[in-house]
Amino acid sequence: MLTDKRILLIIAGGIAAYKALDLIRRLRERGAFVRAVMTRNATEFVTPLAVGALASERAYTDLFSLDDESDIGHIRLARDADLVVVAPATANLVAKMAHGIADDLASTVLLATDLPILIAPAMNVRMWLHPATQANMALLRDRGVAVVDPETGAMAENETGPGRLAEPPNIVASVEALLSGANRPLAGRRALVTSGPTHEPIDPVRYIANRSSGKQGHAIAAALARLGAETVLVSGPTQEPPPNGVRLIPVETAREMLAACEAALPADIAVCAAAVADWRAGEEAGQKLKKTGGAPPSLALTENPDILATLSAPGSARPALVVGFAAETESVIDHAVAKRARKGCDWIVANDVSAAAGTFGGDSNSVHLITEAGAESWPALSKKDVGERLAARIADHFQATT
Ligand code: PMT
Repeated sequence: MLTDKRILLIIAGGIAAYKALDLIRRLRERGAFVRAVMTRNATEFVTPLAVGALASERAYTDLFSLDDESDIGHIRLARDADLVVVAPATANLVAKMAHGIADDLASTVLLATDLPILIAPAMNVRMWLHPATQANMALLRDRGVAVVDPETGAMAENETGPGRLAEPPNIVASVEALLSGANRPLAGRRALVTSGPTHEPIDPVRYIANRSSGKQGHAIAAALARLGAETVLVSGPTQEPPPNGVRLIPVETAREMLAACEAALPADIAVCAAAVADWRAGEEAGQKLKKTGGAPPSLALTENPDILATLSAPGSARPALVVGFAAETESVIDHAVAKRARKGCDWIVANDVSAAAGTFGGDSNSVHLITEAGAESWPALSKKDVGERLAARIADHFQATT
């Protein structure tokens, strides 16, 4: 049942849009509140009147409508739901989602939302199989978007193949699975993840930084969210897109990162994957430092707060499971074992960050998970797979201890 669940249904313009009416009816029968947004093309296939009559309130269609904006506004549309469902998702809307294009109400809401998203694609078989669509789908899956794959069968243009919208009962089943906690063993848990580098200002134009891309930390946050954890990602400056279903708190410095982490407590799980600068400039110059022709200025450093050690310190706010990372260039396991004891965390994930390993900024990682039971070496995996494996281990831990 979907009692009290709020669903934002986005209907894109394809012949399968007519099935959205049946989908709305079934979702409402199961107790969901359904609000619908239609693209302009969708309104060529089904009328907003029909959609609004079946949904819990009228359909929204226009980004620039004064009525729509004063009634609810596109940002509230993007926030006020438990799940966003896109059905049917056309090749065009899938491409816009993959590339962050926001040129109408539906695509703007999809770019503005940080809610979990489920899409049910429907399109001509050749459009579905086109490498551009497949690459866009892979991008969306990587970002944590859940997919009800299209079905194979006869299509509108007398063609046969994959591309038909999944039947509404199958879409409803996926909605229920996502919202009920099936395959979501961390539902009800709160997770805090740090990611990326920190930037420590020297003067208004220069800063101390490191090579972290945020790929590993973001992948962990995405994986924890996929397993149902309510996940806060505190990240330094990165190019990585925020994963779906994760609340991103962007920060710059170590001190800002610590403050954001403390504000995000209580949490059951903390994973510190950020490459936090150990030191910052003792004094940040108010103006750009100038070349004077004399000796170059010297930089006095002062130590930054240790976020992992702070989160690991005993106390009522300590997350039940604190996982640190150890970035090492030699004696990786030995140094990581010592680091785990020094920082007071429960587990530590050790990785080799020497230039030859290519861990910083790369797409793969070879890690060793160090727990009270000892060190366990994992094979080389994509950073996404490291995230999934770590999240699965975290879920197992909670299942075993509660
Ligand atoms: O971002 P990518 O390009 O994907 O690269 C991933 C990564 C190499 C950055 C990541 O896998 C990783 O190793 N992160 C930890 C980097 C690091 O700073 O390691 P460390 O050994 O110096 O620190 C140990 C632990 O203390 C880490 O959990 C770190 O987040 C934490 N720390 C360190 C200093 C500090 N002031 N506060 C901290 O919380």
